[in-house]
This record gives sequence, structure tokens and C-alpha cells, in this order.
Amino acid sequence: MKMPPEITAFYNEGKEAGRLFQGLGLLEFARMQEILSQYLPPAPAVVADIGGGPGTYACWLAGSRYAVHLVDPVPLHVEQAKTASLEQPAYPLTSCCVGDARCVPLADTSVDAVLLHGPLYHLTSRDDRLLALREARRILRPEGVLVAVAISVYASTIVGLVRGWVWDSDYLGMVREEIATGQHRRPPQWDILTTAFFHHPKDLAQELTAAGLQHTVTLGIQDPAWLVPEFEQCWREVSKRETLMQVARLVEHEPVHSPHMVAVARKPQHP
Ligand SMILES: C[S@@+](CC[C@H](N)C(=O)[O-])C[C@H]1O[C@@H](n2cnc3c(N)ncnc32)[C@H](O)[C@@H]1O
Repeated sequence: MKMPPEITAFYNEGKEAGRLFQGLGLLEFARMQEILSQYLPPAPAVVADIGGGPGTYACWLAGSRYAVHLVDPVPLHVEQAKTASLEQPAYPLTSCCVGDARCVPLADTSVDAVLLHGPLYHLTSRDDRLLALREARRILRPEGVLVAVAISVYASTIVGLVRGWVWDSDYLGMVREEIATGQHRRPPQWDILTTAFFHHPKDLAQELTAAGLQHTVTLGIQDPAWLVPEFEQCWREVSKRETLMQVARLVEHEPVHSPHMVAVARKPQHP
């Protein structure tokens, strides 16, 4: 299946491997680790990380004794994930291959959980997102768990206000389109996320239901904690880091304040 060339070009820059180890990625990774620990079935369960990128979540899950299959359409990411897996020989990934969320190379009812962190925001048509969700449902065993990450429709608006980017008319035009349609297209001179679709939490829940999944909850990942000035400096101080995590937890049920949100759903026992 074809990926839009600008998405491939964006990830071929090779920046994704460092994303969760710097800036706001630190908060995302810490919060996702606690959310995954709460909602995934216990290890050793089988997890498919679809859109797993360079394998940061996948390798952490493998290190936590899960059997992890990683699938990603960008060959560079798959190579990076294989290298990361080799670096933890006691807990390697179970498999790692190039593939698309709309046509996943895994058998029916073969996994206990699916992590989708990428496909739902890079597939810009609802039909494609539903294809990806139905593929997740197909490979899940009955009562298996889907953990699906989306980007909030207000993410660019909030960061644009905080950083003064909204004073630029091209940026403001982009924000207008996002709020009206969910479609995110970066203006050429802006070095921000490439082509994507941004969700309102209620539409995310609706898409999961439309794909035949039982929506459990949608949580904000970073919540307003990501807005603190000099974030990385605060994160390095243990007591401030704990405060930021507490703030994120306190407002997790208002996911629209958060740049990323995560929806949890189950495959019904009797499809
Ligand atoms: C921001 S990265 C996140 C990577 C990884 N999940 C993480 O959080 O570290 C988004 C990922 O989605 C992947 N992606 C984009 N379109 C996809 C599709 N149609 N199917 C599967 N993955 C896709 C990209 O290749 C990229 O690795």
C-alpha cells in the first residue's frame, strides 16, 4: 500500500529515533509507559506495535517480557528497530517487518494487544483509518486490547499560542483548517509534523466503534503539563517531574487539552 511521499520523506530524515528521549517526548514516553502498564494484558502477552517506528515502545515492551511484533512502512524505521532489538539480546523483538496498518502481515486472532501510534494520525481519510482499525480487530484475539494514539485537533492551536507561532498568517491558516476539518498540512516553511489528521476525542471513539471495537476510555497523555515553561529543565528535577506527571494524571479525562490522546478498546468476545 502506498504512503504519501511527504510522509516517507519526513521520516527518512531519521529524527524519529530520538523523539521520545528529548523535550516533550520525555513526558509522552513516561505517561505512555504507565498507561500501557495499566491497560495491556499482563506479560508475557503478544503485542503488535503497528506503526512502531524505530522501536522505542516495542523494545521497552519486549524488555518488560512481552512478545512484540513491530510493523512499520518506513524501511529506515524497521532497520533502526532491528538494531535496537539486537542491542537488548536478552529481550529481542519477536518479529520486525515493513508493512502498512491497512494490510497487516499477521494472522487472524494472533495477538493479545495492538498498539497503534502513528497510523491513526497519518491516515488522513476516515475510510483508511477504519481499514487500519479493522485490521487491528482482525489480528486481535476475542477480548484483546487495542491502544490507539491520536493527535488532538487543538494541538497546533495550543502550541502555536504558547510559542507565538499563531502570529504567522500561514500557521494561523493551517490551524483554521485543522479545527474545521481535522486535516493538518504544514505550510512549506514550517519544520513541524508532516501531513496528518487530528482528532476530536468523540470522533476517535466513534471510529473505534464503527470498526467493531468496544471503546473503554480515552485519556490525555501529556495534558496541560506539556505547557510548563523550560520543560526539559523541570523534567530533570525529580520533584518537578513528579509534579508534571501528577498534573497529567489529574486531567487525563479531558484529552482535548493534550497534544496526544490514547483510546483503549476491546475486541468483543463474540464478533
Ligand atoms: C510519530 S511516528 C511514531 C513511531 C512510534 N509509534 C513511536 O511512538 O515511537 C509515526 C509512525 O507511524 C508510521 N506510519 C505512518 N503511516 C502508517 C501506516 N499507514 N501504517 C503503519 N504505520 C504508519 C510512520 O512510519 C511512523 O513510524
